[in-house]
Amino acid sequence: MEIGIDKIGMYTPNQYVDLVELAIHRKIDPDKFTIGIGQDKMAVAPLSQDTISMAANAAAQILSDADKAAIDLVILGTESGVDNSKAGALYVQRLLGISNKARVLEIKEACYGATAGLQFAKLHIAQNPKAKALVIGSDIARYGLDTSGEVTQGAGAVALLVAANPRILALDMRSAYYSSEINDFWRPLDQLIAEVDGKYSNEAYIKFFQMVFEDYQQQTGYQLSDFAAMVFHLPYTKMGLKALRKVLDQTDAAHQDSLQQHYQQSTLYSRRIGNIYTGSLYLAFLSLINNDMTLQPGMRIGLYSYGSGAVGEFFSGTLQGNYLDMLDPMHYLEMFENRTKLSIAEYEAQFKKQLTPGIEAQKLITTDLNAPYYFAGIQAKQRQYKAGAKSV
Ligand code: HMG
Repeated sequence: MEIGIDKIGMYTPNQYVDLVELAIHRKIDPDKFTIGIGQDKMAVAPLSQDTISMAANAAAQILSDADKAAIDLVILGTESGVDNSKAGALYVQRLLGISNKARVLEIKEACYGATAGLQFAKLHIAQNPKAKALVIGSDIARYGLDTSGEVTQGAGAVALLVAANPRILALDMRSAYYSSEINDFWRPLDQLIAEVDGKYSNEAYIKFFQMVFEDYQQQTGYQLSDFAAMVFHLPYTKMGLKALRKVLDQTDAAHQDSLQQHYQQSTLYSRRIGNIYTGSLYLAFLSLINNDMTLQPGMRIGLYSYGSGAVGEFFSGTLQGNYLDMLDPMHYLEMFENRTKLSIAEYEAQFKKQLTPGIEAQKLITTDLNAPYYFAGIQAKQRQYKAGAKSV
């Protein structure tokens, strides 16, 4: 029995910062951001979108009523959750009307949480082949104004429906993982912005990739030439390329070119959104399959997940026969086209407001037509979520 990704949906907020404008404002050469880092735009979450509403919006896009009845596992991977105790996935379950006969939880390990959820879901479906599992990665990445990490901020969520006989990507049962307690990136409990040792985090990302890719090759006997494309967790789009380049010499020149061309297709969405932490690897996968018309069913895709702190995992899957039928690339083109550009002053003002969230009795609204759900404010210390302009 094959198990894997049957449906995939994404949501990102409807406002962004142009990174050339940000570079000029910060007195930095724009080429550093667009070429050196590889980012063009950065999504900015308004106060009315948090990890829960973004997760619900990503999942609402793909789930049918039959899916909602069949789902018996909901996992939210997030590192920017809104409660120290209660799983954000419980709100998502209620908002979307997913069956109460479901196991519902949240997983945290930096950007790796959604991958942990996906592996959990894969084993769950192996034991319960008629069930379906919903795995979502949802995050807001914040490093702070005028920091070196600022250009790598972003916001968004990716939802995966995991099932037997998947129609998009069948996952191999094997995977290779490595973990070690390191201080490359972390976020103390009393902070909404991350602490990061940027250069060290880059090194750790690459080192972990080399270790898990080698381990995976030893476990499976696959050569680099067996992979049509490799997708990476993308904290910024240059990062995955740096890792890919470390192994490219394992294959011939033509395949090296092909892997790099596929890689570019996998970065198109991240370039316009930024780092969405837990969902980022799956955003790269969605960008690849929505934009790369040279891919064919049966091709093997490698996936590298990295969460600071740190855990790395490499796994792979094969594209399924009618995977194109499961996609809606126009939806995302429209989503990008309908975003509003914030001035740097507007972005900075919003950013500062986000650092003092949770104001009691604040009444938030939304005008985002792609957001069926939004965060409406806090009453009696309880978070309120509402259906928005395009209710499902
Ligand atoms: P920085 O010090 O501002 O940048 O930090 P830099 O000086 O290293 O320059 C970056 C690149 O731009 C370099 O290229 C420069 O040469 C180039 P590289 O050598 O890397 O190929 N450059 C230029 N290119 C063209 N024209 C120019 C120009 N000037 C310079 N004029 C850094 C960059 C990414 C470290 C910083 O933004 C940061 O700390 N970001 C956050 C941390 C991060 O993203 N780490 C990635 C790995 S860890 C990870 O992925 C986990 C994470 O997602 C968190 C989680 O797991 O939850 C972050």
